Amino acid sequence: MRVIQHPQEMQDWAKAQIRSGATVGLVPTMGFFHEGHLGLMRMAAGLCDLLVVSLFVNPTQFGPNEDLDRYPRDFERDRQLAQKEGVAVVFAPTPELMYPKGFQTEVQVRQLATHLCGKSRPVHFAGVATVVSKLFNIVQADVAVFGEKDFQQLVIVRRLVADLNLPVRIVGHPIVREKDGLAMSSRNANLDPANRAAALSLVTSLQLAQTQALQGQRSTAVLTALLEKHIHSFTGTAVDYVSFVNCETLEPADVVDEQTVLALAVFVEGKVGKVRLIDNGFVLSR
Ligand code: PAJ
Repeated sequence: MRVIQHPQEMQDWAKAQIRSGATVGLVPTMGFFHEGHLGLMRMAAGLCDLLVVSLFVNPTQFGPNEDLDRYPRDFERDRQLAQKEGVAVVFAPTPELMYPKGFQTEVQVRQLATHLCGKSRPVHFAGVATVVSKLFNIVQADVAVFGEKDFQQLVIVRRLVADLNLPVRIVGHPIVREKDGLAMSSRNANLDPANRAAALSLVTSLQLAQTQALQGQRSTAVLTALLEKHIHSFTGTAVDYVSFVNCETLEPADVVDEQTVLALAVFVEGKVGKVRLIDNGFVLSR
């Protein structure tokens, strides 16, 4: 397995592989791998000849008061895990290489980025759309795998690829969870063990909404009030949003139907400050 730091070297490698007839797959990540990331790598490996995993904690998708400095990192551990998964290249650039002096281009997916996480993280999705566009070009990927855990990100990346006619196929991977249901996240490492139970307020909210909807409660106003109360019953939680949205447009839904996704963001007390966790799922099983 190779580790490549320089974008130009990465692109030269990819072009040479493609010239010799290989297909290249990409899993973009910010590292500190868990089973969710490894699941994406396994899926992607089955869809291409050579798999590239990018490992880059992208500063432009973090707001000024967010957790860029606290974001967990362990390059050596990540390198070994990627190697075990049969990854061909770990592409791990520095911020200076990705955003050299004079950099000024930004990719904006306008409407989709205003909903859900976009409300409390106004710069986030422009940062994601820009770095993902760069990664697609640098790695020359035929196929890229993204997790459904970041549902809005996946919808935005699909839109970006369609709008800019990018020659890459986007594949979604289901959410990978811990035994108790908590969606895996690099940020879980920052949870205070004493408060770990509070993190379950998200997955239990999904289950509660699904049960209520099956029993006939389809009003999202009623369900939202119920879920906010449920989340607040866990100590150390603060709701960022509880939203029922259409799975394609991300517009709020008044009534639950087959297209409705429940998306949640909750702050949970962590080891050093609050940890923002997200989760989502279709309300009615499809
Ligand atoms: P990161 O949070 O490291 O996630 C990398 C990929 O892993 C994303 O596609 C994310 O949706 C997926 N993922 C994370 N946890 C998951 C889980 N429990 N189940 C399934 N998939 C999971 O998302 C990013 O990095 C960045 O925004 C990035 C796309 C790399 C751009 O910087």
